[in-house]
Amino acid sequence: MLAIEGLTVRFGGLTALEDVSLHAAEGEVLGLIGPNGSGKTTLINALTGIYPATGRVRFREVDLLGLPPERIVRLGLVRTFQNLRVFRRMTVLDNVLAAQNGMPDMRFADLVGGRRRDAERRERARGLVERVGLGGDADRLAGELPLASQRRLELARALVRDPALLLLDEPSGGMTPAETRGMTELIAALACPGRTVIVVEHKMALITGLCTRLAVLNFGRPIAIGEPAEVLRRPEVVEAYLGTESYR
Ligand SMILES: Nc1ncnc2c1ncn2[C@@H]1O[C@H](COP(=O)(O)OP(=O)(O)OP(=O)(O)O)[C@@H](O)[C@H]1O
Ligand SMILES: [Mg+2]
Repeated sequence: MLAIEGLTVRFGGLTALEDVSLHAAEGEVLGLIGPNGSGKTTLINALTGIYPATGRVRFREVDLLGLPPERIVRLGLVRTFQNLRVFRRMTVLDNVLAAQNGMPDMRFADLVGGRRRDAERRERARGLVERVGLGGDADRLAGELPLASQRRLELARALVRDPALLLLDEPSGGMTPAETRGMTELIAALACPGRTVIVVEHKMALITGLCTRLAVLNFGRPIAIGEPAEVLRRPEVVEAYLGTESYR
């Protein structure tokens, strides 16, 4: 589904990603780990057209590099953010409705479609809110919810596009172990046949409970890829994490 070949991203003199090659199959949950600053978020930004990159990225036979971000979203690549991006002063339901704005089927039809269409949108948004476990919070302000719920809301906003490739940047960041388990289960439920998930995460509990394969970045280069438990035992991976707090 996704084939990354020789992907390189530079910021002036700094090479954030260097010659990264990586594949993801249909329906796979691929974990991506690496020390702070190793290029994980940069990889997501390059795939989604936010950062210019060189190399080649093919997604279902389409070359992604150079396409504008909005085109890439429409092809079915959708990401969430390491630093939450929900509208804190809007309700949970309105956050999801806002994510629906600007979708291709919403434009002209929306202006003339009237109430029936509006009701359909709300119903769909409510369904997504329930799907991420926030049914009871639909009418609360997003900013009043605990962080774990806000991360769930971000997922609901991403699901609006029914993504074929979901890119999650530290979806359990700031969560307690119990909340992390809940998020792991939710992501597992979202990874259905036909949808691939790439998840950037530091927490090993989430990685090992969820991922079919694990890729490790260090200084912008992939240093290992394979079955998670096996990859985590490799000396070069252990060494890359040595002395960092993140490895647990
Ligand atoms: N827009 C940018 N301009 C300049 N340098 C950047 C930019 N974005 C990222 N970098 C640099 O690229 C490198 C990789 O950063 P990136 O955010 O991808 O790391 P990361 O693996 O996501 O780290 P973390 O675990 O802390 O989230 C870092 O050295 C970072 O400072
Ligand atoms: Mg990051």
